[in-house]
Amino acid sequence: MSATLKVRVWRGGAQGSFQAFEVPRHASQTVLDVVIHIQRALDPTLAYRYACRVGMCGSCAMTVNGAPRWTCRTHVDRVSHKGELTLAPLRNLPVIRDLVTDMREFFDKWAAAKGQFAGERSRADDFDKVMPESPARRAADAGIECIGCGVCYAACDVVTWNRGYLGPAALNRAWTLVNDERDRQALERLRAVAGDAGCHACHTHMSCTKRCPKHLSPTAAIAGLKRAVAKAAMDGEL
Ligand code: SF4
Ligand code: SF4
Ligand code: FES
Repeated sequence: MSATLKVRVWRGGAQGSFQAFEVPRHASQTVLDVVIHIQRALDPTLAYRYACRVGMCGSCAMTVNGAPRWTCRTHVDRVSHKGELTLAPLRNLPVIRDLVTDMREFFDKWAAAKGQFAGERSRADDFDKVMPESPARRAADAGIECIGCGVCYAACDVVTWNRGYLGPAALNRAWTLVNDERDRQALERLRAVAGDAGCHACHTHMSCTKRCPKHLSPTAAIAGLKRAVAKAAMDGEL
């Protein structure tokens, strides 16, 4: 291991450029450690985002040597190429500054896919119980651990080509709720994802599934939505 790492970091907005830094190497160093070192020791104006530093919040996601990753869970040893690292903001989202993207369109699409739970019970009612071993519960569980980090969205080429496409995270969320027995707007949700910008735009590249740090499969969720939309259309419900 050489004593230092050469790091190129995106600076500025969409029309910015890469700036080179040299950072000391350490054992078990993460990519986020490198970014923090640059900001604390070399250039305090560097903008980036993180919160938990332990793979819980997803806010540290960036493009690391061309691929979207959680930087706090990525060891430099695994991704540096010939002692070099290139860091850029997440793809497919507007850049605010340096390594920080504007996540608004990502969450707007989440809402457009009706990603909010809509139950019918009030605070006065008992819990709506869903048995852990039931098929519906297992189907909902498959995608429920999504924390909205945007890594899959940045990995998806269809989002790049078609900026209206709802994208893997919003569709994964929609499928999770379609499978939630307590939710009462499954049909509205299927309508929301049935259009040109919805599940049928997915080309099944699997990039989202390959890159999701939570090991979820938005691709499988989207396939489920395609089947459910087709069935609802055949049943005359859409
Ligand atoms: S599906 Fe995975 S990669 Fe996509 S937003 Fe959720 S946790 Fe992140
Ligand atoms: S499987 Fe679909 S959503 Fe996932 S990256 Fe490919 S085109 Fe995008
Ligand atoms: S800082 Fe929270 S997941 Fe990386």
